[in-house]
Amino acid sequence: MDHVLSVDQFDRSMLEDLFKRADAMRELVKTDGGDDRLAHHVTANLFYEPSTRTSSSFAAAMYRLGGQVISINDVQYSSVAKGETLEDTIRTLGQYADAIVLRHSEMGTAAIAASVSTVPIINAGDGVGEHPTQALLDLYTITTEFEQVDGLTITLVGDLKNGRTVHSLAQLLNNFDVKLRFVSPESLQFPAELAKNLTNETTFSTDLESTLKDSDILYVTRVQKERFDSVESYEAVKNSYVITNDTLAHMKPSARIMHPLPRVGEISSEVDSDPRAAYFRQVENGLYIRMALFDMLIKH
Ligand code: NCD
Repeated sequence: MDHVLSVDQFDRSMLEDLFKRADAMRELVKTDGGDDRLAHHVTANLFYEPSTRTSSSFAAAMYRLGGQVISINDVQYSSVAKGETLEDTIRTLGQYADAIVLRHSEMGTAAIAASVSTVPIINAGDGVGEHPTQALLDLYTITTEFEQVDGLTITLVGDLKNGRTVHSLAQLLNNFDVKLRFVSPESLQFPAELAKNLTNETTFSTDLESTLKDSDILYVTRVQKERFDSVESYEAVKNSYVITNDTLAHMKPSARIMHPLPRVGEISSEVDSDPRAAYFRQVENGLYIRMALFDMLIKH
């Protein structure tokens, strides 16, 4: 694997291999904190959009494997502010770093970066396109929370139009036999052109209530304010679904609530203490998945 651009690069045996490596990384972090296998290696975090978890977990992953990180987390302080192109920025960072983690506001930019890059590009979110490493950590979390992925009913709720994490996760789940329930406001439906690539049974609805009883996983997402044309159009849909203890009362005792985070009101904090709330375990798993990815991608 040269780059990580899309979930469609992953088949079931690669996922099994990656998740085994992530398990080993969990063990390593818990016992020794990390090791030095990537000593004298350098990655670059190049973020054209805000990030907390993705940028810091990729940085922590590198540090825990003995490497170092160049962090351009605010492109306003780089030559991008002078008008430098993405291509030239990538060519430059490739002279210093062994891999580049890129987040950008435009769909397709990770692929453009990969076409000029001499080092692996990891897509950390390209606009409303994909966020493959989030989907990998989401799926890894599912495998740690359930005995098996096959047979699960997974309800994806929120901004399914603009949310790149659901675009990637729904597609990654093509590797398994699951039922997908898409619940969103009419205007924020999962894109039809992406839905036609899905191999699992899918249903589309605006009504969350009726899906709760059967759902094994409720994957909640933030309404993506930054993708709206006006504040008014965002305000009109932002509180469409709010998960509370009352929502959980309608769900199976074995169900899980997931969220890529950040949340901005769509999951009430009272839910956090319910053992079914898995979103902070997702955060933890993100570190192990990103350590495993660097271990696979960076020659050492
Ligand atoms: C997500 C993203 O950036 O797409 N965040 C993340 O990486 N965990 C989700 C979001 O911003 O809503």
